[in-house]
Amino acid sequence: MNILIIGTGYVGLVSGACFSEFGFKVTCIDHDKSKIKNLKKSIIPIYEPGLNDLVKKNIDNKNLNFDTNANKYLNKSDCIFLAVGTPSRRGDGHADLKFVFKAVEQICLRINKKIVLVTKSTVPVGTAKKIKNIIKKYKKDELITVASNPEFLREGSAINDFLRPDRVVIGTNDEYSRLLLNSLYKPLNIRQVPIVNTDTETSELIKYASNSFLATKITFINEISVFCKKTGTNIGDVTRAMGLDKRIGSKFLHPGPGYGGSCFPKDTLAMSKIFKDHKIKFNIVDSVIKTNDKIKENLSAEILKIIKANKISKVLFLGLSFKPETDDIRESSSIFIIKYLLKKHKNLSISAHDPVAIPNAKKEKLNIKYHFDLNKSFESQQMVIIGTEWNIYRSINFKNLFSQMSSHVIYDLRNIYIHDKEIVKLGFKYYSLSSK
Ligand code: UGA
Repeated sequence: MNILIIGTGYVGLVSGACFSEFGFKVTCIDHDKSKIKNLKKSIIPIYEPGLNDLVKKNIDNKNLNFDTNANKYLNKSDCIFLAVGTPSRRGDGHADLKFVFKAVEQICLRINKKIVLVTKSTVPVGTAKKIKNIIKKYKKDELITVASNPEFLREGSAINDFLRPDRVVIGTNDEYSRLLLNSLYKPLNIRQVPIVNTDTETSELIKYASNSFLATKITFINEISVFCKKTGTNIGDVTRAMGLDKRIGSKFLHPGPGYGGSCFPKDTLAMSKIFKDHKIKFNIVDSVIKTNDKIKENLSAEILKIIKANKISKVLFLGLSFKPETDDIRESSSIFIIKYLLKKHKNLSISAHDPVAIPNAKKEKLNIKYHFDLNKSFESQQMVIIGTEWNIYRSINFKNLFSQMSSHVIYDLRNIYIHDKEIVKLGFKYYSLSSK
């Protein structure tokens, strides 16, 4: 089986590497020449645990190949995945499908054999139909059949999520495509991974509904946490007890500084727009979007208040990525709060540490200082803000650091140290998403 993947971003690259690990011959295409040049040498453009080794192994065994031009592979492929970007249209919220449609047109112009064309990017309900219309325009509907196969991988655990998924969703109205896609996922049979076979539109909806639900779950617990903080009730016990109810489950019930990343903010907005297009108001998701923005803003304002009340002029941020195990800073709450503080407090000196996200943060051109050595980063700081729950921030020896800092305030946006009584005994003022 020969697979072509158009778009070598997060989803395209991880899917390509994992399909090649299954033993299929995979070529990943991207128009970014330097990215492809590096990938051919197993230099990967993102930080994703395990991906480097997987890419190298499968380049070496000739299952995985990279190129900038799809043309010479089109008529050797059995299956073409579209994994190009679908960014939010500026000021609109709809997913922008121009890269998807451009790729479809290029395929239609050159294809002269039977292929299955599959959307892997997150695309609005009805996209497969629009793709079919383009194919009809080129009179290629005898050759090209269409399917939707959304991806549910998380940054930071993407390979595990691909190789050990909770489920695989295959959406198509065409029997040939269904059989071909089911055979692609046969290697997962050994793990008895459930495969949900459905039509294209339902498959497209499943992806948005899943992300919107998870964003709702997080926002729900974030609001409960605001209540706990105000009333002195215990958020840890609330989430534990709720999570033990199998109907609720403990995952995605951790309070934090609002969800971020490249998916939830974009997909909740798009979901709301898709509903509106069908003249339905998605009240819950609309409220989640607003609440999540408000959570980030309220936290920023609270931090500013603490800074002013304690006459703090030097702040250290720990963690810039939107979550651990990734260098992705898109919609990161840390970056949001830093921007807010820089805007509202002209004399504040901010510095930041992150294990891998500093190069991406630098592209934001923020007026802050970066530390690469965690142990040296506390020197003469007055306040520490824990923005991301990287493992290295879970065992900080605050006793040793006390004397290095010139004032002693901690804001723990991930509730890592809420049970650590020592911190307060040492003389730190400790704030979290739960303390009163
Ligand atoms: C998310 C989904 O989890 C994946 O299933 C999906 O495939 C992916 O989007 C996508 O659409 O491509 P991802 O954005 O990589 O994956 O990250 P998550 O682990 O879902 O975290 C998203 C945000 O929620 C982060 O800001 C994280 O800090 C926050 N979060 C997560 C919480 O605040 N609390 C939690 O309990 C869980």
